Amino acid sequence: MNKNDSERIASFLVDFGLKQTTKPEKADVLLINTCSVREHAEQRVFGFIHNWNKFRENKPNLIIGITGCLPGHDKDEKIRKKFEKVDLYFPIIDLPNLPEKLNKINPELFPLEKSKQLSEYWEYEPIRQNNFSASITIQNGCNNFCTYCIVPYSRGREKNRPLKEILEEIKKLDKEKFLQIDLLGQVVNNYQAPDPENFSLNNPYQEKDHFAALLWEVNQIEGVKRIFFTAPDPQYFNDWQIEALTLPKMMNYLHIPVQSGDNKILKKMNRKYTREFFIELIRKIRQVKPEIALGTDIIVGFCGETEEQFQNTLDLYQQCDFDISYHAKYSNRPGTVADKLFVDDISEEIKKERWQKIQKIMEEQTLKKNQFYKDKIVSVLVTECQDGYCQGNSKEMKLTKFLGDKSLLGKIVQVKINNPERWILFGEMV
Ligand code: 5AD
Ligand code: SF4
Repeated sequence: MNKNDSERIASFLVDFGLKQTTKPEKADVLLINTCSVREHAEQRVFGFIHNWNKFRENKPNLIIGITGCLPGHDKDEKIRKKFEKVDLYFPIIDLPNLPEKLNKINPELFPLEKSKQLSEYWEYEPIRQNNFSASITIQNGCNNFCTYCIVPYSRGREKNRPLKEILEEIKKLDKEKFLQIDLLGQVVNNYQAPDPENFSLNNPYQEKDHFAALLWEVNQIEGVKRIFFTAPDPQYFNDWQIEALTLPKMMNYLHIPVQSGDNKILKKMNRKYTREFFIELIRKIRQVKPEIALGTDIIVGFCGETEEQFQNTLDLYQQCDFDISYHAKYSNRPGTVADKLFVDDISEEIKKERWQKIQKIMEEQTLKKNQFYKDKIVSVLVTECQDGYCQGNSKEMKLTKFLGDKSLLGKIVQVKINNPERWILFGEMV
């Protein structure tokens, strides 16, 4: 999501006639788009700002700014005061207010007549950095308030983008280039179209579920070959959404964050489902799409997590037979419910131990699961070609590598797997 937001910031600045550069010391404007999900990401921002401030010596008019999640949750600017000089400090949703601010700082570089008067930040058309799949933001913010999570504070309440705008953004894409669409939202499967009248009359889901209906609409768009979305919340899955996973262009991979496999911890996290509900959901998904690959997110060492509760997570991980998971050691975030009500009492040592344990189980399981692909044919979107080899993700989101040349770049090809390793499926094009 942040990457897609950065693509919008780029287009916003290019509209003023600025050019992108890879050399920060040459830039007239340096903006950092921050993530606040874990403390570590925020700590790194200090280093960037410190280094960038040195450029002011040779560039007295340099504009340095911070956007993204950090200013979003730092309403009283307590953290801002810890930085060396920054000229701009705004949450991403304030992007439409930026022309005035920039104009005040440097009217020559930012004449107001060049600015686009848009009301929502997502209306700025992104300059896409990824040449093969296009991220499409369909929603911003979140109302779920999971107790560990800073997102509802940093991105604000959930707001859904009009269906018409989403479909127009996709239809406008260069279809030769962007074969894959990635739909983005914090709680993407809770999507509620503010303009449901724009669903097609023959959309089978329009009266039933807006997210399933959106997937159906994107499936109808010519040129779109693959559709991925992230991240859904288990609580919002229903039979319509499960059925929509079988629409022809859907990826054969689902990323579905569970966070914990223990009911008490889930409750304490304010995740509104149980372990049993989640396991049953996975069963239902596999029933309609038996070969789907599954991924998840897990937090270890949440406040008060006992060894037994952690074991319940390991047990759920194995029961659900995930293909991959992303593990995070719990990081206390200021202002969250967990910060106010619970004690971050699991030592760093135990967090690390649990992280390593689950990581090891995942790695073993990933290798085991990949054996399924031996001698099977997978469909690969080629995104890199080097030294006679091409690679890209299969529909199962498995990195696949095979002999091939640059002419295959950006194409979807069929690859027969002969050597499935843990992180790469090796094969040959058929
Ligand atoms: N500490 C650790 N991990 C977190 N995540 C969100 N908030 C925290 C936190 N405070 C993880 C969740 C989420 C992913 C994007 O980041 O697993 O799914
Ligand atoms: Fe954070 Fe929970 Fe919202 Fe996801 S659903 S963004 S974890 S509060």
